[in-house]
Formats: sequence, C-alpha cells, structure tokens
Amino acid sequence: MMQSLNVEEIVLLKKKILIVDDYFPTRRLIRDALSQDGDYEISEAENGAEAVDQCHRNTFDLVISDIMMPGVGGMELLNRLREISPDTSVIMMTAHPAVDLTVSAMKKGAVDFLKKPFDIDNLLYKVKTCLNEKELSEEIGLEPSSPESKINDKTKDLSVHGFIYDSFGNVEGDSEYIYRKIVDLSMNIVNGEECALLLFDEETGAFDPKILKSTDCETYERKTIPALQGVFRQVADEKRALIIHSTERPEITPSLICAPLLIRSNVFGILCIRSKRHMEPFTTKDLHYAVSLTKRASLNLENLVLYESVYNNVLDTFKSLLTSIQVRDHYTEEHCSRVAALSVKIAEAMHCSAREVESLKIAAMLHDVGKIAIPDKILLKPDRLTFEEFTFIKAHTEMGCRILQPIYLLDQERDIILHHHESWDGKGYPEGLAGADIPFLSRVLAVADSFDAMTNNRPYRSAMDMTAAVEELNRNKDVQFDGRIVEIFPQVLL
Ligand SMILES: [Fe+2]
Repeated sequence: MMQSLNVEEIVLLKKKILIVDDYFPTRRLIRDALSQDGDYEISEAENGAEAVDQCHRNTFDLVISDIMMPGVGGMELLNRLREISPDTSVIMMTAHPAVDLTVSAMKKGAVDFLKKPFDIDNLLYKVKTCLNEKELSEEIGLEPSSPESKINDKTKDLSVHGFIYDSFGNVEGDSEYIYRKIVDLSMNIVNGEECALLLFDEETGAFDPKILKSTDCETYERKTIPALQGVFRQVADEKRALIIHSTERPEITPSLICAPLLIRSNVFGILCIRSKRHMEPFTTKDLHYAVSLTKRASLNLENLVLYESVYNNVLDTFKSLLTSIQVRDHYTEEHCSRVAALSVKIAEAMHCSAREVESLKIAAMLHDVGKIAIPDKILLKPDRLTFEEFTFIKAHTEMGCRILQPIYLLDQERDIILHHHESWDGKGYPEGLAGADIPFLSRVLAVADSFDAMTNNRPYRSAMDMTAAVEELNRNKDVQFDGRIVEIFPQVLL
C-alpha cells in the first residue's frame, strides 16, 4: 500500500489544545502564538485539577502543561491523563529540565519538553511536530508498542527532531546553502544513499534539479530523474509526502521518500530520497523525519526566499541607477564593483559573518550612488576641486543614504554607506565619528575604497602602483584607517 501524508491537512485541521499553567501571562503568550500560527481550538486551565476536570468533559489532541503548579502538578496530571485520555499527546514545560524528570515524564507518555523561558518558534514547531506525529500514527494505524520500545523510540525521536530543529536554528547563508543542508541532513537522518532537491516551476510545471547527491550524478539526472516525474507531479499536486516501495512500483528499487517543500501552502520544491543503506526499505519513521525536516527548513526558506526576491529586485533597481552614473563617469561603476570584491575579501579575512559580508558587498556596490546628485562639472572636473565643490562632493554619503531611505531592507547597508568617509582620527565626514564609533564595515569599505582610488587613474592624477598604495595606507594607519584592517590588507592582495 502506498502511504501518504497530507502536510497541509495536518496544519489545517482544527485540533483541540489545552494549555495548563498557573501563570496567566504564560497561558496568554501560548494562546496568542498558537492562534496566529494555526486554526486550533484552544482551552486553558490554571492548574492540574482544573485540567483533569476539562479532560473528563472534552477530548484534547494535545495538552501543553507546566510541571510546577500548586495542588495537582504536571507530573500528576500526566498520570491522570494516561487513564482518562491515553491518546492525548502531552508537551511538558519546565524551567529546570532534569534528566531523571524528563525520562520519568516520557515513560508516562510526555512526547516532548519545553525549557522555560521558551522560544515561540520552538514551541510552535514542537506543537506541529507533535500533532503531525499523532496524525500520522492514526492515519497508518501504528501498532501500539511496548513501554520499553516506546521509551527508546521517543528518546530517539526527540533527539532526531531536536537535531533537525537545532540544525536550522541559526542558519546563516543563502537559499542555496539551505538547500544543500536539507539534502545532507535528510540523507544522514534516514540513511539514504541518493537524494535530489528539485525546484518546481509553477508556470512550466517542470522540476529542475537544484542539488543532486548520488555516486553517479550524471546517470541519476539523465535516467532516474525523468523516470520519477510522475511521482514528483503527484507530490506537488497533492502536497503529500510519499513513501513508495518496489512491491507497489517495481521500477523503484527498493524504496523512495518524496516530500514537498512548501511556502505558504505553495509547493516550490521537492525532496526525493532514494536507496536506503544496505538495501533496506524506508520506514514510516523515515518518512516522518523527512517531513519534519522539510517543514522546518521551509520556515527558514520562507523568510529567505521572500527576502532574496525583494532584495534582488531592489538591487537591480539600484544597479540601473549606477549604470546611469556610469554613462557620465565610467570610473564609478567599475570602481564600485572592484571595491565590492576587495571589501568582501577583507571582511572574510577578518572573519565577518556571512550576513555581514553580504551587507558589505551590497553597500560597497552602492556606496557612491549619492554621486548621482553631483553635477557633471564637479564630478568630472579634471582640476583640483574648490572648497565649495569639495563640500558638494562630500554630500554624496548623506545623499546616497537618503536615496536608499525608502528601502527598509537596506538598513545596515545604509549605515555602512553613510560612514564610509569617516576617519579613524575623527576628521572625516559626514559626522566626524572616530575609532570604534565608526561602524566596522564602514571602516573596511574605507580601506578598500581608498586603495582602489589610489591604484586607478582619476581625472586629476594618474594611478599609483600597488606597493606605493599599500605604503600610503600604512602611513595613515590609526590616523585615517583602522590599523587592524590595514595590517591584514596585504594578505587579501595575494
Ligand atoms: Fe565615496
């Protein structure tokens, strides 16, 4: 039988959840978070006794309960629930999760733990995972297992789900990086030997392989991927994760897991894992882990994909602005590209985070966008500038910042641009900031900008060679430039 799991239904079905905590603000916080996240029927109880009472009158899919409560506490509630409503899942909350307490609660049937104070995303993820797990078990009629194997399974489940959650907790990087991470993790977790992540083009209906992992990628792409188009289509149409064995589909050897990647209920990709190690068939648990992983990853991708698409749009707009400057001044656009490349190298050498490097790259590309407001007779003047003309030129930092003002996404970049002509000794512009008060990435940009200006011909002077330019940077170390950046600079030129 082909087993399937409708990812959307799990989220959309109205599940009954009981929140038990003696502290009203905690109950309110959880209720608000759940209400925003899904269509749940939510009840509250302020202690274990009231919860027991409600569980006699109502059947809940999930109880989220504090452990420490006056009167009937969380552990006793868990005992009582096993008698009243053994199918209800329970997530326990505690500020001090001791190992013995955790194991004892799991033995009594708690499916997960939340450490207080908890992170809302973590709570929502655990609620969804828990309801998802319950639904899956009901849907495919899992045999009740022995208490011993159940506790082992739960422990493994908890660690796998925790591992999945944590793996995507603080992911930095672009969508490509996350795609790779999904593939690597999923193969790891279900012991798959081949995996493909394909992006779905809604307009053409095509599935384009984005990441492929196989011992023979070429054959895999040429033969296997086309043969699986029907399965991909089914998963995309039904928004269902599938596990298929060779007993139903002989062409699939020996089994396959295929799960949709969803953003706001739209399928944007497919994860397909094949060939479990040692020719074993994939299990329902494997399917479950794969779904958990794709859902968790989709949370990251949702923000990232939206961010990237808006970001790229915005960048395209500003790049065309830069092109319009280039029509007047060939130097500016080429200069900006070179400064961006150099700034990135410095930032990487100084161990900046991926996000900082990305921001700096954008800021460096756009750092002179304010020059669009400078008249030709000043911008292209071959002679030395007068005091008034230089004042005009100096305004390009604030002008650039103002041009980018409406784009809230470019907050950090704006700040970098505004201060790229500040000087370490406080004699720069526009604000005369000094030393560490100047944003670090502006200091990096200042070094890259000056070096590029020195090593290229300008209307008013010819280019210096690289050695002379590095010497000039050194002469201005801790005067105009941050000494640490000047010191590391020669190594990025190698
Ligand atoms: Fe500038």
